[in-house]
Amino acid sequence: MGGYVLAIDQGTTSSRAIIFDRNMKVTGTGQKEFSQIYPRSGWVEHDPEEIWDSVVVTIRQAIEKAGITAADIAALGITNQRETVVVWERDSGKPIQNAIVWQDRRTANYCEKLKRQELERTFTRKTGLLLDPYFSGTKLSWMLANVKGARARAAKGELCFGTIDTFLIWRLTGGKSFVTDATNASRTLMFNIGSNEWDRDLLEILRVPSAMLPEVKDCAADFGTTDPAVFGAAVPILGVAGDQQAATIGQACFEPGMLKSTYGTGCFALLNTGTDMVRSRNRLLTTIAYRLDGETTYALEGSIFIAGAAVQWLRDGLKIIKNAADTGDLADKADPTQSVYLVPAFTGLGAPYWDPEARGAIFGMTRNTGPAEFARAALEAVCYQTRDLLDAMHKDWKSDGEDTVLRVDGGMVASDWTMQRLADLLDAPVDRPTILETTALGAAWLAGSRAGVWPDKAGFAAAWARDRRFEPLMDEKMRTAKLKGWRNAVKRTLSDA
Ligand code: G3P
Repeated sequence: MGGYVLAIDQGTTSSRAIIFDRNMKVTGTGQKEFSQIYPRSGWVEHDPEEIWDSVVVTIRQAIEKAGITAADIAALGITNQRETVVVWERDSGKPIQNAIVWQDRRTANYCEKLKRQELERTFTRKTGLLLDPYFSGTKLSWMLANVKGARARAAKGELCFGTIDTFLIWRLTGGKSFVTDATNASRTLMFNIGSNEWDRDLLEILRVPSAMLPEVKDCAADFGTTDPAVFGAAVPILGVAGDQQAATIGQACFEPGMLKSTYGTGCFALLNTGTDMVRSRNRLLTTIAYRLDGETTYALEGSIFIAGAAVQWLRDGLKIIKNAADTGDLADKADPTQSVYLVPAFTGLGAPYWDPEARGAIFGMTRNTGPAEFARAALEAVCYQTRDLLDAMHKDWKSDGEDTVLRVDGGMVASDWTMQRLADLLDAPVDRPTILETTALGAAWLAGSRAGVWPDKAGFAAAWARDRRFEPLMDEKMRTAKLKGWRNAVKRTLSDA
């Protein structure tokens, strides 16, 4: 026994714990959903205590399912929903209010104000990001302004800011480690991705005291040791990465030009650009893919806020499907003569449009439109949005070799219908790996390789295996017509339309 690696994947709608053995095989998992809190239109919050409880419960579940004891775990890796803001008291560890989730749009006006002061360029130059409520900085600033006494307490060092990774590590280590990794830091709007440090000018603009910020480490590093009181053993935390970066690692996208797209709540495509910090001219983000041994690898990122969440809406909102897994079959029955488009701008539109005020819309309905056409429109919307991202990436990144193949992962990629439609609308092949636990695998690799129980980068990349390649089959005329319809639908959805 021994040599197991535990990965915590703290996502937007559920927390998961996965135990891998020495051969990188999953031997036990735990999963728990938690509450989504919507205090007002466009606001999204999580209760950090509920997140914490869900993490502890799922770790215990996974250990039990794997039939091991906590002492058999050699290393722990953490991956998490990014940008979500938690602020807690240094003394008591108690959060000062609910976490403000990445999807939350409450700082749209604040972002507009900063843009009017012509500050977007400064933020983009230093952080690679844009002025959108999506990122942590304006959310943190909002919290400091709206929770009584918070800014003064933060300046005195009484409060701690963290993305979810930092909050979990703090709790897991019994308040001993106050740290994050470079990928999570790169999403805060406060971290200079060139110099790899918190940026004083940006902190000043956002009025965030540096006393409340965690130390930023490489993705594979010593993040502290778990307090045995939590789940029964002192386990070293050796790997941390934001979930999209962890998926990039889990897909072994280690070479410049390699590209992955993950379909969870949202959809996020990352293109490895190596040690080059490629600046987008097409409204993509420049971000840190990973930092290993002090060397930063960058990525271009396209972020879509609603992917799986559209299927969830079909299930929980419209109640036209029972299980998310049925969506592909239903879509397959849709009337091919109807052109129904869903623009799922439920929480605004992300890349490459960046319109926080846009809201969802449906176009092209007729008297015959029903559940099947809705299902097809929801799945196709995910494909069209991926196409938008890839078009922008192709303009920003000229590859000299063969065209890159998209490696996909996340819950939605289990659907053959969706993956075939994706290849059809991208007009490019799509590769689905055998291991679909890509995000957890990435976090586990960071920790497992650092602990010496898993292979190095080259060995790990060699172990990546394809389950199936989807080749484009749709005829050109049809693809062109469908893409034209989509672009028209988006145009009519934008808030200034
Ligand atoms: O940037 C937000 C992202 O990290 C959330 O990922 O998988 O929870 O949708 P997911």
